[in-house]
Amino acid sequence: MTKVAIVTGASKGLGRQIAKKLVAKGVKVVACARSTKQLHSLVKECGDHLLPFTCDITDSSQVQALISYTIEQTGRLDYLINNAGLGRFATIDNLSEHDWDAMMNVNLKGSFLTCKYAIPYLKQTKGHIVNISSIAGSVAFAEGGGYCASKAGLNMLSEALRIELKNYEVRVTTISPGSIKTKFNQPKDYALEPEQVAETVWTVIQAPKTVIYSHITVRPQVPPTP
Ligand SMILES: NC(=O)c1ccc[n+]([C@@H]2O[C@H](COP(=O)([O-])OP(=O)(O)OC[C@H]3O[C@@H](n4cnc5c(N)ncnc54)[C@H](OP(=O)(O)O)[C@@H]3O)[C@@H](O)[C@H]2O)c1
Repeated sequence: MTKVAIVTGASKGLGRQIAKKLVAKGVKVVACARSTKQLHSLVKECGDHLLPFTCDITDSSQVQALISYTIEQTGRLDYLINNAGLGRFATIDNLSEHDWDAMMNVNLKGSFLTCKYAIPYLKQTKGHIVNISSIAGSVAFAEGGGYCASKAGLNMLSEALRIELKNYEVRVTTISPGSIKTKFNQPKDYALEPEQVAETVWTVIQAPKTVIYSHITVRPQVPPTP
């Protein structure tokens, strides 16, 4: 039976790589982001196992439409990969309220909404939620107050969900990567390749049914100082 995943933030960066990885492994993927054009270019790369769906995950009605579309088109949902995220970096006195709200809405509320509306279907399949957090969710840094707070919130949402859903055999995993080579930031040369983090997603959802990877930190190997 073909498994079905929703990947949020699949238009570029890590989410795009996760979508490609899952399709390559035989999973049918509903790829969500706001950029319709970039989602359609992903269909060209992946073929008909990739269903594009334009969706702003901060909008409840759009998220409900995403879940309904997935069930109408495929009949099931096995994996919810909450990857969409953004970072706005400034000291708190310089961070705009708009940027604070944007991070809370995308990084935290968006994952709340997708989980809320996907959970009934994930219970049916004994599925798996993977929340892409960040090392910044547990290690604070200057100019990262808003981003760190949003990812720390996601970590707690994820852990509470893991406990709520264990009796339904729905597994929940938080993945906290270090710096990744995407356009999100200006990554160092040694940053993780998106493919390496996508492989981690595949590893956790392939774990034996009796195993839950609850929180994984993925760090790049920083070259030793000479
Ligand atoms: N890059 C890093 O160094 C790093 C490190 C640790 C963790 N992370 C986390 O990894 C995840 C992916 O980051 P990335 O580096 O791949 O960033 P990216 O290249 O900027 O991609 C972000 C994705 O999120 C989507 N997105 C943003 N707002 C959205 C919204 N309202 N609704 C739906 N989709 C939305 C974007 O699509 P549209 O713009 O088309 O909507 C895009 O596909 C994020 O959660 C990030 O916090 C990144």
